[in-house]
Amino acid sequence: MPDSRETTVEAFVAGWPIKHSRSPLIHGYWLKKYGVDGSYRREAVPVEAFPDFIGDLKSGRLPYVGGNITIPHKEAAYRIADRRDTLVQELGAANTLWLEDGRLCASNTDVYGFAANLDERHPDWFKAERAVVLGAGGASRAVIRALRDRGIAEINVVNRTVARARELMDRFGASVHGHPMTALPEVLQGAGLFINTTSLGMDGVETPVIDFSRMQLRGLVTDIVYVPLRTPFLVQAEAQGLATVDGLGMLLHQAVPGFMKWFGVRPLVDETLRALVIADM
Ligand code: ATR
Repeated sequence: MPDSRETTVEAFVAGWPIKHSRSPLIHGYWLKKYGVDGSYRREAVPVEAFPDFIGDLKSGRLPYVGGNITIPHKEAAYRIADRRDTLVQELGAANTLWLEDGRLCASNTDVYGFAANLDERHPDWFKAERAVVLGAGGASRAVIRALRDRGIAEINVVNRTVARARELMDRFGASVHGHPMTALPEVLQGAGLFINTTSLGMDGVETPVIDFSRMQLRGLVTDIVYVPLRTPFLVQAEAQGLATVDGLGMLLHQAVPGFMKWFGVRPLVDETLRALVIADM
């Protein structure tokens, strides 16, 4: 009998805390669905233990071919990697790792996940000429990159700390403009797309009232928050007659490139998976 460790492909999600990560549910569903001899496990790694965790990964003391990185290690994973693609360099944060000839390679699949969710649920989304992005953190950078990749001509970033929004102008160039929160009503006027990338609207976090009716009639509002699924921003936008897409699909689609890399199968984001994750909320 061969040692099962020699044939089973193993991957992980590392973070601190890690208990609430839904990645094991997603990858576990696909492993079963596609009959892959593999496993995907949670690794609780505190900040101070992360360098040793990566050392053990690279030396083969851990059984993994790669894995996902979540809060608070995304920036550290980016810095510690041996090979970084151009996307991860631009974002300065990695969420997907894999080993190649003993070298640690890093990528970021949030840009893919954001665009794939909208492609699936509102295929015309990128025809908006002007987008408004609320927030200027790591998630905002991934969203801006996706908007720019898909040809959206003007991106207005609105943030509580206006200096962070303005930093993004330097990072992304002429199509990006930074604004304080007070400018939100003005920049929403005639916009085709609104994206919340902040934690506003998460369960227990209070949300401002926004007049989405200032947007284009056929405008779209989306949110990267997915707990609750119908966030206060989406509920307000729907009540004001706008189309909406929830953020759960971004979580599901961002897992696709990692699964392909580690397990060699391109998995589908199907309705059964969506229902499984919703039932787990
Ligand atoms: P992430 O990597 O998830 O994007 P982050 O880098 O901490 O996380 O960024 C969080 C974003 O949510 C920021 O834009 C933050 O605004 P500041 O830059 O002013 O901190 C925004 N945010 C969080 N809580 C907020 C609140 N209560 N009101 C307004 N903006 C908030």
